[in-house]
Amino acid sequence: MSGWIETMSNVQLLHPTTDIEPEYRAFIAEFIEQQEPEMFYRLPGDDFAEFVAQLHREARGEGLPDWAVPQNTLWAVRDARLVGVLKLRHRLTPALESRGGHIGYFVRPSARGRGIATRMLAMALDKARALGLTRVLLTCDIDNHASARVMVKNGGVRTTDSADPGTGLPLARYWIDLETR
Ligand SMILES: CC(C)(COP(=O)(O)OP(=O)(O)OC[C@H]1O[C@@H](n2cnc3c(N)ncnc32)[C@H](O)[C@@H]1OP(=O)(O)O)[C@@H](O)C(=O)NCCC(=O)NCCS
Repeated sequence: MSGWIETMSNVQLLHPTTDIEPEYRAFIAEFIEQQEPEMFYRLPGDDFAEFVAQLHREARGEGLPDWAVPQNTLWAVRDARLVGVLKLRHRLTPALESRGGHIGYFVRPSARGRGIATRMLAMALDKARALGLTRVLLTCDIDNHASARVMVKNGGVRTTDSADPGTGLPLARYWIDLETR
């Protein structure tokens, strides 16, 4: 167990910066190469500085469309390698209560199965608490067992399922209580 903690202690959850550009592009290339669903990653376009600036505007809630809420994008870096991306939304809307919740995350395919998502979520919960949230909602496809496990290992308790507004397929919803955790 102590080995796991030592291994994972070098994962950092960072705010976006432009110096990550080569790593970010390699990260995205891996998702494309592995034919992962496009919803898992976000293309930065040619102007990486503008992409990073846009992420910071979203975190501050500037220029958002009506349906959007302020959202931090956080990058998980381990040994100078970008291994995951996490989104932390500051509040829910009815749409996010059905699908998306407060927090979403993905880990690059070659880094999966090493506890990285579990550690990312644990660190994000501290950030959510710092935002003043007392509990957070997460959702996943009901057959996404790895993601569900990450939620449960971080104190997630499954509540009523919802339906994906796009596909109609059931989504599992998990609440994590930040006051008792
Ligand atoms: C889901 C995802 C983030 C997990 O990342 P990860 O870094 O591999 O996760 P971790 O290593 O922290 O933990 C995965 C847990 O799920 C378990 N797991 C993995 N595949 C599983 C499966 N098919 N069935 C059951 N459990 C599974 C692992 O054993 C581990 O649990 P354990 O520590 O008790 O053994 C990653 O697979 C991913 O990015 N998937 C695509 C994007 C996605 O689905 N994001 C979530 C959207 S809600």
